[in-house]
Amino acid sequence: MPTNTNTIQIPWSGRGLAYTDDEIATVVDVMSQADPLTQGHHQNVFEEKFTKLTNANYSFAISSCTAALELSALLCDLTENDEVILPAHTFAATAIPFARTGAKMIWADIDAETRVVTAETIRPLITPKTKVIIVVHLYGLICDMDPIMELASQHGVLVVEDAAQALGVTYKGKQAGSIGDFGCFSFHTHKNISTLGEGGMLTVKSSQHAALVPGLRHNGMCGFEGERLHYWQPAMSNVDFDIDGLWPYNFCLGEVQCALGTKLLDRLDQINQERRIRAEQFINAMKDYPELVFQKIPRDCEHSWHLLTARFDGEGIGKVRDDLMSLLAYTFGIRAVVQYCPLYRYPMFQKAGFGQANCPQTDRFFDNMISFPFQHWMPQDQFKAMINQTQAALNQVRKG
Ligand SMILES: Cc1ncc(COP(=O)(O)O)c(C=O)c1O
Repeated sequence: MPTNTNTIQIPWSGRGLAYTDDEIATVVDVMSQADPLTQGHHQNVFEEKFTKLTNANYSFAISSCTAALELSALLCDLTENDEVILPAHTFAATAIPFARTGAKMIWADIDAETRVVTAETIRPLITPKTKVIIVVHLYGLICDMDPIMELASQHGVLVVEDAAQALGVTYKGKQAGSIGDFGCFSFHTHKNISTLGEGGMLTVKSSQHAALVPGLRHNGMCGFEGERLHYWQPAMSNVDFDIDGLWPYNFCLGEVQCALGTKLLDRLDQINQERRIRAEQFINAMKDYPELVFQKIPRDCEHSWHLLTARFDGEGIGKVRDDLMSLLAYTFGIRAVVQYCPLYRYPMFQKAGFGQANCPQTDRFFDNMISFPFQHWMPQDQFKAMINQTQAALNQVRKG
């Protein structure tokens, strides 16, 4: 099979969204007017609007979702004696901040049909050492949260929602990222909305945790107590620990990115809706090809269609996923990809002692999955061509 990808007509884009003229004008305007360029008016507006949208208790604009996860991990106050239960079928950033604390990573399997963790896959892993459960609303599908929250509360365990891919979706009327103790969101280049390639938001449930975030986000900067004779004495601002020994970072998101984020929230529902319509069109167009098994969407769980994925079930025709992938890439010009490699298969997690797992559904899904190009800006004729070419590839794989 050729390795030449020059024939690719439908690319896998590194960017999820095209900006409107209005959004570009917002960036240019704030670029020329904002003073300061970080930690100012636009950050406050973005956070307020995000809080309103998600109905979270507190929102903090953050430089990335990884940084939001990093602060969550700090606030969970983990030690080497603690265990964190999380899916291995996710992006590495879900786990790295928690692994850094020294706590033990315990990999939960995904459900075979929804491809996200459930209370059933988490429950058998709970021990007296479990301190945190991380759920990932992967591909944009929100997990079945009620049973997970009930399980967590029975065992006094914190819940972190990695909602990087699920901004704007609801579960029984509640927004992704507002249900657990922490919600972590991404505005990275691939996401449904992006603040110029990087960006994130951290939502926090408890006021005690929320009080610690501003200092942790910005080098422990804080005010002085009491009245001061001059604003420059004894220094312009104070630097201190909110909790002794809890060293802070600089995880701030600049004003231009915050202003763009605020603007993009106006278009979020429309973007998610357009993605939903396309996903449904694609899935309907494949209904005569049971070899492609799409994510099951439970009744209460919305999907942002950040990604459009399927498992290739070629047993009946004696074919495997790579037979279809090769045809898609080299004959039909569609650059589909395979993601997310179970984290326990990566050298980083193996070297750290987290190479063991009992996750048969994670392995089965990853080894048979296909993720189709699904950038929002894909022209309609390309999207139609992707449907036709995928059908043609499926016909050929049956024959070949
Ligand atoms: C599930 C998941 N978690 C975390 C991240 C990290 O987000 P960021 O790139 O904003 O740090 C991403 C994506 O990039 C992701 O897809």
